[in-house]
Amino acid sequence: MHPDLERILFDEQTILEKVGQLGAQLSADYYDKNPLFICILKGAALFMADLVKRVTVPMEMDFMAISSYGASTQSSGAVRILNDLGKPIEGRDVIIVEDIVDTGLTLAYLRDTLLRRQAASVRIVALFDKPGGRKVEIAPDYYGFTVPNEFIVGYGLDYAERYRNLPFVGVLKSDIYATGNSDKPEQA
Ligand code: XMP
Ligand code: MG
Repeated sequence: MHPDLERILFDEQTILEKVGQLGAQLSADYYDKNPLFICILKGAALFMADLVKRVTVPMEMDFMAISSYGASTQSSGAVRILNDLGKPIEGRDVIIVEDIVDTGLTLAYLRDTLLRRQAASVRIVALFDKPGGRKVEIAPDYYGFTVPNEFIVGYGLDYAERYRNLPFVGVLKSDIYATGNSDKPEQA
């Protein structure tokens, strides 16, 4: 437990078990496709690292940094690419690796962007799905857990860049962000 958390939702073992299942599923679905896994920094970094270790078929990795939330717990709706992919993705079967789908604005933007670059296919794997937060209709093709419409941190997810290192995921106490400096735009 952590003093800034109201409660724990998923402990480390539960998360790793689920990540293993997602890795097995993706390995089966993409066994002959040499998929390109694109990690959306920074939130998905821990998920990506654990996920690719469970992928048993040929694959490649790349990374993209985007801005969405910043230090706030509310999505601004504005999405910006801070660091782009290393190579063109034309003809590639792409898997976007995200931490969480909340409003859906980030993924809607990313999926369209990658399709415009003529990827052969674009699917989304998100560890967490927060359907109660949706503003645009989009669903991850693969996801680990559904979460309530509350602000969660840990296992890559931050509040104002903190808590990413926690090996578990929990709900942040609301007095932490009520008193914080909340609207400096930073990367997700
Ligand atoms: P959207 O709203 O575009 O958001 O689907 C995706 C990004 O917003 C961040 N996000 C969260 N980060 N706890 C966090 O630490 C949360 O509960 C949360 N909800 C959304 C996250 O960076 C994600 O990539
Ligand atoms: Mg974030």
